[in-house]
Amino acid sequence: MTVSKPLPHDAAPLHVTGAARYVDDIPTPANCLHLAFGLSEIAAGRITSLDLDPVRAAPGVVAVYAASDLPGPCDCSPSNHDEPLLSDGSIHYLGQPVFLVAATSHLAARQAARLAKISYDAAPAILTIEAALAADSRFEEGPRVWTKGDVAAEMATAPHRLSGSIEIGGQEHFYLEGQASLALPQENGDIVVHSSTQHPTEIQHKVAEALNLPMHAVRCEIRRMGGGFGGKESQGNALAIATSVVAHATGRPAKMRYDRDDDMTITGKRHDFRIDYEVGHDADGRLLAVDFTQFTRCGWAMDLSLPVADRAMLHAENAYLIPAVRITSHRLRTNTQSATAYRGFGGPQGMLGMERVMDHLARSLGRDPVEIRRLNYYRPAEAVAPVASNASSTTSLDGVDPSDQDLTSRGATPERTAGSARRFGGAHSPKSRMGAENTTPYGMEVTDFLLHEMTDALLVSSDYAHRVNKVAEWNAANSILKRGIAFSPVKFGISFTLTHLNQAGALVHVYQDGSVHLNHGGTEMGQGLFQKVAQVAASRFGIDPAQVRITATDTGKVPNTSATAASSGSDLNGMAAQAACDTIRGRMADCLAGLYQARPDQVLFEAGMVRMPGHEMTFAEAAATVYAQRVSLSATGFYKTPGLDWDRIAGRGRPFFYFAYGAAVTEVVIDTLTGENRILRADLLHDAGSSLNPALDIGQIEGGYVQGAGWLTTEELVWDGKGRLRTHAPSTYKIPACSDRPDVFNVALWDAPNRAETVYRSKAVGEPPFMLGISAFLALSHAASACGPHYPDLVAPATAENILAAVNRARG
Ligand code: MTE
Ligand code: MOS
Repeated sequence: MTVSKPLPHDAAPLHVTGAARYVDDIPTPANCLHLAFGLSEIAAGRITSLDLDPVRAAPGVVAVYAASDLPGPCDCSPSNHDEPLLSDGSIHYLGQPVFLVAATSHLAARQAARLAKISYDAAPAILTIEAALAADSRFEEGPRVWTKGDVAAEMATAPHRLSGSIEIGGQEHFYLEGQASLALPQENGDIVVHSSTQHPTEIQHKVAEALNLPMHAVRCEIRRMGGGFGGKESQGNALAIATSVVAHATGRPAKMRYDRDDDMTITGKRHDFRIDYEVGHDADGRLLAVDFTQFTRCGWAMDLSLPVADRAMLHAENAYLIPAVRITSHRLRTNTQSATAYRGFGGPQGMLGMERVMDHLARSLGRDPVEIRRLNYYRPAEAVAPVASNASSTTSLDGVDPSDQDLTSRGATPERTAGSARRFGGAHSPKSRMGAENTTPYGMEVTDFLLHEMTDALLVSSDYAHRVNKVAEWNAANSILKRGIAFSPVKFGISFTLTHLNQAGALVHVYQDGSVHLNHGGTEMGQGLFQKVAQVAASRFGIDPAQVRITATDTGKVPNTSATAASSGSDLNGMAAQAACDTIRGRMADCLAGLYQARPDQVLFEAGMVRMPGHEMTFAEAAATVYAQRVSLSATGFYKTPGLDWDRIAGRGRPFFYFAYGAAVTEVVIDTLTGENRILRADLLHDAGSSLNPALDIGQIEGGYVQGAGWLTTEELVWDGKGRLRTHAPSTYKIPACSDRPDVFNVALWDAPNRAETVYRSKAVGEPPFMLGISAFLALSHAASACGPHYPDLVAPATAENILAAVNRARG
């Protein structure tokens, strides 16, 4: 079957030859205006005078807009209506758009945007978590608190206590294609927007709202992004609104793309956090009570910060069953860029808090960190009765017993260059805490826990025990270069926590020559979603994927879509496309059965043919036949995730359809004189369910790990005391380069069917592997620990400076 084959990304040849078309590659229409924002130069205060005459007089300038020149507030916020396109006179961060220039070229617009004369009445800027706490500057009245059990009582009676704190930096998305939008005016005042966005419906909605148009007057189209990583869920709104306002006002096409420095200065990033922890445990390292306080720096506007902070709370316990937990979350408002979605959506920060606890606990007890982790894992899946909506084995996608579908022997996992991909069978393995309850701090039963078996498999394949000894030998023999090795697990909840977003639509046409036009609400940002959904469609019709044309996401074809986010793209859109294909296939089967005296269920679609007793024809012949019988060959499909029930205020319910799991072992070396470091080897084992496409999934796992390791090592955001982001270009902000990938990189899929009924029993894979990068951070902590008797309290990101500081703390 086409599903499960490791086929290349549909646009791979276009990507590598430079022929893939992004928004900025759309041939610029005649008469197109080019836009740029003029930015605030202070972080907080008021504008006292704004002289735009020099901007208007600059060569090539056609129009200049301040807030009062706009048709209304032109709000850009995805949540709170607190983001006017241009400053209303108040300034909330350094880099905030103050005015908008439309000129005859990109360069002319950018040059003119520098010429304004702005005076300000500056106010003290709130830049840090500490300053926001002192000023009580927040987005909700007080902190949000979720609890399980009696934390105070358990903490008081626990035989041992541990406490600490970790600072966690943010992260710039660094999508290779920056934010971009092209708006084309239509007759009747309608607008077509080409936007580099993960959320076309949001673009349509916000543009319509800004121009006071019904949503039917605005259409948004996007074929692909050059990366989004969450940074294009809401941060493209400003460009789409700006270009649409100008196109509407002037009747001319308008295009805007941020220069890299502007992109980094204007747009929001991953939230940085501080997490304080207090832990009660027994002498073996069993957790009895954990009290987390999470401080989230949200920036100036609300954006998606509340659900991001919620997801940090939802991952605060990661993979561990804790009898009593309290999680307190402070959502702090600061005079910085409005922090936004970024791969993992708060989950990575919450999870790092827990993994820090595990690391600290193991070092303080002098025990092997993997043993401490295993001791505290949730109970394994087999030991838990499946709940109805999550039961696996008996029902299947179309009434076929899954054992007939050959769910375990999938297409071969491709060989990797720097290592080998293997497949693991899941042997049943040791349970801890049998008989105990198995619920998360938010009251959801964990019924699909795979990490006992995955941990066993990975420890063997990575030769962990032997290498721990080798690292100890190395460290005993070497005083300058120290090595570290660490294991970390991932348990990541899949579903949007805003329950109604868990829906998707698709539109499928079969043409009379048998070629198929496929459209759905998901967007392509490099992750391979379009290829996966095309493989689903091809499988439903039993045809070659080359017969399926994947088309640009378009709000005129599939309406009311959710952002392609929360890793749910293939779960949701794969199911919607499957439903549309099955509707058409059902009509074709009915029609052909009538013509050829067969039962509809005897009509089979396989290997490019349509077969029934006594007759067979190509899929193309079948399409032509059915068309001639005047049967519709076009259908929509719809899907919504079943069984979700979540109260985010109380912090209780079932926010997730299922969990995706992963585990990693990373080995590093540090130079204790300079803090320089390298990842020597990484072994990853990741659960993508029955993979829809093992090649693409392994790509997501490798990329996620490297991006996660980058977040926790070299990627450091620095704001100066005035609130100016000093790391606003690749010269000062260091993402991992090709040469930073682990020298030895072994990546494997766990490859067992999802217990939840997802499309072909696959699992979401976009975000979860990002958190495998935590093992790199923990390995650096281990290496620093080897320098002395004290806990090194490594700060994230573990830059060379922070590693040196940690080495010094270890030495005492
Ligand atoms: N992979 C690539 N190549 N580019 C991206 O922008 N975004 C990530 C992940 N993988 C991203 C990526 C994020 S943040 C999410 S939520 C998912 O892909 C979204 O796609 P999916 O739901 O289809 O997995
Ligand atoms: Mo991903 S952060 O959910 O776009």
